[in-house]
Amino acid sequence: AKQPAGVPEAAPREIHKVGVVGAGLMASQLALVFAQQLQVPVVLTDLDQDRVDKALDYVRDQTQKQLKKGRLNEEQATALADLVTGSTDKSVYADADFVIEAVFEEIGVKKQVFAELEEIISSDAVLATNTSSLSVTEMAADLQHPERVIGFHFFNPVAVMPLIEIARTAQTADEPIATAFALAAKLRKTPVLTKDATAFVVNRVLLRLMAEVQKTFDEGTDARTADEALKPLGLPMTPFDLLAMVGLPVAQHVTESLHASFGERFYVSSNLQALIDHGVTEIWSIDAEGHKHIK
Ligand code: CAA
Repeated sequence: AKQPAGVPEAAPREIHKVGVVGAGLMASQLALVFAQQLQVPVVLTDLDQDRVDKALDYVRDQTQKQLKKGRLNEEQATALADLVTGSTDKSVYADADFVIEAVFEEIGVKKQVFAELEEIISSDAVLATNTSSLSVTEMAADLQHPERVIGFHFFNPVAVMPLIEIARTAQTADEPIATAFALAAKLRKTPVLTKDATAFVVNRVLLRLMAEVQKTFDEGTDARTADEALKPLGLPMTPFDLLAMVGLPVAQHVTESLHASFGERFYVSSNLQALIDHGVTEIWSIDAEGHKHIK
């Protein structure tokens, strides 16, 4: 098969254990995909045990769904769920070969997580971030071993979206990049190497469309009308459905990062901010006739 562009000569590191930091929407999906495709133990952590339990419940639910669909038998479903364990203690990452963080999309939080991880994991384990919009270079800047830091960016829903953006910084060594390509192949994903530039490639383009739709929303266009109007473009998911799936706070954070880097090309919606400020997490409400309305 044709090699993707940018694969270094270096031998990839073998992965015997994976660490996922965080227990949110992306982290839970990542834990499942790593366990399923690599068949190695995956540990995830969060500060809050309830969130850890929720992530483990998600993994168990998904394995049960696969069992019902006949894709796994009883034994395989149990074995898969058992590969994923959770904790509130980051020392569980000590013997991991590849640790990926999927915590809150905030540079200070991510830097803190990386600094803590560096105290725990071996000096040559790969440290990856699933950030969709922050600078990988900045995340690695204060570390002792910035050369093992990479961006490894998945798309939601992780199980079905084929692409992984691998981001290389000026300091990243060859081995972690070779490892990232080998890992992507094992995960049956399509890797592309991108520069470490805000939002890499896909979100930079996608968010431009999303931001423009949000601008029409702020200017008074009804969300459902905008979604209906855009259907003929053949997008796999309409913009407001996509927002609902990604989650308002995450989507808003990503747009803000793009706005900070690229200015007015990325419009930040005040209507969406108002929803977030009011604690609204679900965009759609369904009325008595079954019609969707934005809240
Ligand atoms: N989790 C797990 N699996 C899911 C899923 C989810 N949330 N949603 C759908 N699937 C699975 C279904 O189970 C089904 O699997 P099987 O065929 O194995 O049974 C398969 O996906 C297809 O599902 P549907 O029949 O419902 O198909 P669909 O045609 O409606 O496609 C979709 C669903 C693939 C999600 C499609 O709507 C799509 O491609 N949407 C666009 C998603 C997108 O743009 N993602 C990028 C978002 S940006 C981002 O990732 C966040 C960021 O960086 C900030």
